[in-house]
Amino acid sequence: MSKTYNWAILGCGKIARKFATDLKLCPNARLYAAASRSLESAQSFASELGFEKAYGSYEEMVNDPEVDVVYIATPHSHHLEHALLCLNHQKAVLCEKAFAINSKEVGLMIEAARRNKTFLMEAFWTRFQPSFLKVLEIIHSGELGALKMVHSDFAFNAEYNPEKRLYNVDLGGGSLLDIGIYPIFMSLMALGKPSEIKTMARFCPTGAEESIMMSFSYPGGEIASLVSSFASYSSTQTEFSFENGFVRLNRRFYTPTSLTYWKNWEEEKVITFEKGAGFGYELEAAHVMECLDAGKTESDWMPLNFSSDLMEIMDWVRKDAGIVFPKHD
Ligand SMILES: NC(=O)c1ccc[n+]([C@@H]2O[C@H](COP(=O)([O-])OP(=O)(O)OC[C@H]3O[C@@H](n4cnc5c(N)ncnc54)[C@H](OP(=O)(O)O)[C@@H]3O)[C@@H](O)[C@H]2O)c1
Repeated sequence: MSKTYNWAILGCGKIARKFATDLKLCPNARLYAAASRSLESAQSFASELGFEKAYGSYEEMVNDPEVDVVYIATPHSHHLEHALLCLNHQKAVLCEKAFAINSKEVGLMIEAARRNKTFLMEAFWTRFQPSFLKVLEIIHSGELGALKMVHSDFAFNAEYNPEKRLYNVDLGGGSLLDIGIYPIFMSLMALGKPSEIKTMARFCPTGAEESIMMSFSYPGGEIASLVSSFASYSSTQTEFSFENGFVRLNRRFYTPTSLTYWKNWEEEKVITFEKGAGFGYELEAAHVMECLDAGKTESDWMPLNFSSDLMEIMDWVRKDAGIVFPKHD
């Protein structure tokens, strides 16, 4: 029997609202505190979503001994600062992707989690979706032969506005850390770390990267072709190509979705999954609480060394493409 965990939200923005909506689906989660830089915003978030307490600063929230676990939903540029704040107060942390801005920051977060013997996990919700788990099962079963290629794209037209987080380099803006991370996540899960990376990027007037194409190759001869962009819409699918067929995570591959499966010239099959009651964020929240129930400080499904590898690849991509975050690099 799981204990009931008191959750706090750090940063009451767009994704925090969706996550908190899904958190209500977890019977062992208590919507306890909302923390914002402004008390007014915390109060309105708390009353809209049903949190018991509202704090007008993140510091006040971490000093509340009743808080068990904090969901960090600030821009990537602030994840290090906010994760350290929580971990140094021994609060378990589920921190949004991108985990931070670069590997150095990810290293400091992991070091703080280990020093404080406190749980830390990147909020990579796709990892917990049944459609994605089915892909992993197909890859590992070998039923389609060896995996040779991954093709993944994530693009949407995010109207250009220099004021937006997405275009602000001081907040880690650009498509790579925001959405390009999903195709890279897919390739890392399926093929591991690449041995070669080549990229091509386009930039906006703020200096933020708008679109990027990434080609990876692997020691075993496999390849991956990955794209992200804020300039246009794309089908937002991920296809895994094997010696004897392919599997495609259909639009939009990062959320709960269906799979198309094709083997040896047989008819294509579409595999569907029952739609859950929420957006899909409840699965990662439930996983965090299972880890805490088991006394773990790290998830086996989304381990810290995986987050570290993911950021190392993004550092490499950035170096090749010339993507710079002047306040962090
Ligand atoms: N998993 C997913 O599906 C998903 C989807 C979208 C975004 N994300 C990730 O979630 C994070 C937040 O994205 P979002 O779209 O929710 O952003 P957002 O709407 O801009 O919200 C970010 C919140 O962070 C807080 N904040 C603290 N310092 C800030 C600063 N200097 N500038 C701006 N905001 C600051 C603000 O909350 P207060 O004013 O209340 O303090 C703000 O509302 C990003 O890392 C993003 O990659 C994940």
